[in-house]
Amino acid sequence: MDKFLLILFLLVLTGSCRNEVEQKTVATEKNKKWWKEGILYQLYPQSFKDTDGDGFGDFPGVVEKLDYLESLGITMVWMNPFFESPLVDNGYDVSDYRAILPRYGTMDDFDAMLDGMHERGIKFVLDVVVNHSSDQHKWFKGASSSRDNEYHDYYHWWPAEKGEPPHRHSLFDPEGGWDYVEAVDAYYLHTFAEVQPDLNWENPKVRQEVYDIMKFWAEKGVDGFRMDAFQFASKDTTFPEFPKGHEKDFIKWYGMRPQLHDYLKEMNNEVIRKYDVFAVSEGAGSTFEDAHKLVDADRNELQMAYHFETVDLSRTPEGYTLKEFKDVFTSWDESFAEEGWISIFLSNHDNARMVSRFGNDSPEFRTVSTQMLNTFLLSMRGTPYIYYGDELGMTNLDMPKIEEYVDIDAKGKYKAAMANNEDMDAFMEVLNYSSRENGRTPMQWDTTANAGFTNGTPWKKVNPNYREINVAAQENDPNSVLSHFKKMTEVRKKNPVLVYGDYELLLPEHEQVYAYTRTLGEDRVLVLLNFSERESTIDMEKLNGQNILINNYDDLDLEGTSVTLQPYQAVIVSMETES
Ligand code: NOJ
Repeated sequence: MDKFLLILFLLVLTGSCRNEVEQKTVATEKNKKWWKEGILYQLYPQSFKDTDGDGFGDFPGVVEKLDYLESLGITMVWMNPFFESPLVDNGYDVSDYRAILPRYGTMDDFDAMLDGMHERGIKFVLDVVVNHSSDQHKWFKGASSSRDNEYHDYYHWWPAEKGEPPHRHSLFDPEGGWDYVEAVDAYYLHTFAEVQPDLNWENPKVRQEVYDIMKFWAEKGVDGFRMDAFQFASKDTTFPEFPKGHEKDFIKWYGMRPQLHDYLKEMNNEVIRKYDVFAVSEGAGSTFEDAHKLVDADRNELQMAYHFETVDLSRTPEGYTLKEFKDVFTSWDESFAEEGWISIFLSNHDNARMVSRFGNDSPEFRTVSTQMLNTFLLSMRGTPYIYYGDELGMTNLDMPKIEEYVDIDAKGKYKAAMANNEDMDAFMEVLNYSSRENGRTPMQWDTTANAGFTNGTPWKKVNPNYREINVAAQENDPNSVLSHFKKMTEVRKKNPVLVYGDYELLLPEHEQVYAYTRTLGEDRVLVLLNFSERESTIDMEKLNGQNILINNYDDLDLEGTSVTLQPYQAVIVSMETES
């Protein structure tokens, strides 16, 4: 048993260390925003629900599950790209931004889905992939046909007469970020795969095209935009040589140039403020200052950003320490306490499953540890982003062989590791643990074939544990991850302190327990999360008689001078404060 004594803790809990004249955070009308109060569900459409038996999710499938979405208590859906695309990067290679990939359905299906969400009070966030297009987009086809083509300057070119271009790292292509096109005798830039040429944001026509696309969707009624890879939109287009090894810190070198802010202000003027929509940036730069420059309200750029520091913590099976985890969240919270707003997430389509990385996916602990992580996500300051399936505790899939992978990222990394003569067994072990394909397996609805996702052959293998982990099994079980998740969304919605309240970290050095308070005016809650598979005891007083808002175990003894948390126990206690 682990004992931890902290006098400060007692003082903070009773409010007695607070300065008499201390300002209390209150949610002013000016600061209150629907997208701050929202609970966002990220829906990967390819893997959600297939209705026509092609093994690929579709819009009618989402419509079929609208009541399910509503029952979760979520209030926003961010859907990954569903536009016309050759799907080399699962839709992040768009060949027509106004057309829907037929596998998902028609525009009428889209409208029905959007209406169905709106009828249920759910806002819709569109994924806008405009750092690059697909090489199959008509812009790139034209651009690469002749230097005189009207679209040539929509992309970045290095004319061959200048010699070889300076090295640029590509995130998906081990051969680098430039590719040669004979017809124009020039190299084009691609920060991602060869088939994802970077758009030239310096060209005002490109920017206008993007705003027109955004307006098209805003007119249709979407409520927000997620800007994919947007920090790379502005780059140094003189393309200087960068020092060897710079790619380890590529965001600093490749993106976040000052012009990015001019573009965002322009976008804000043209689109965001006109439609009362919000926009979130994928990536928040390399520093807090960068992040603030993207999202501070008085700058009129974006409303929200998400950084990668948490998901970067746990890229290998060695995992992470709770201390590091607390440091990341606490420092980001501190930096955004007064101004700006961030997303809170532990997984998405670019990452392995939350419970397999940050919790414990063994049959013994996966339920309680997912409940604990969901309690965390839904009790921090920032908009919680819940990835589909995490409301069930869906886990990683075991994929020890490279042949099982379909993802361009995994294949590119494998090729690079081979070229570098890496230890391929060790490489595969890390890939198996951290690959984003783990997070893309079909939604587990029930125990029927293919987890009820499709009647056909699923595009990606269903996790065999669907027989135990699925919606049908959890819906009627009051102790399931799903039931707990629903309770927790209700708790967040009923308690504005969980949205707007000040966050204060307690027990910073504790290796098993993450404890913090949230305070808003007279309201204060205490959150206790045991991140370990062992019992943990913390000393405290004065909890006796307080109201427990949520607890993923049946009991919690608050009578004595210490609290013992069961493995992965997660509790939120509403505290009486002394005003
Ligand atoms: C970030 C997206 O989240 C990821 O899935 C995609 O591969 C890259 N951007 C390229 O668009």
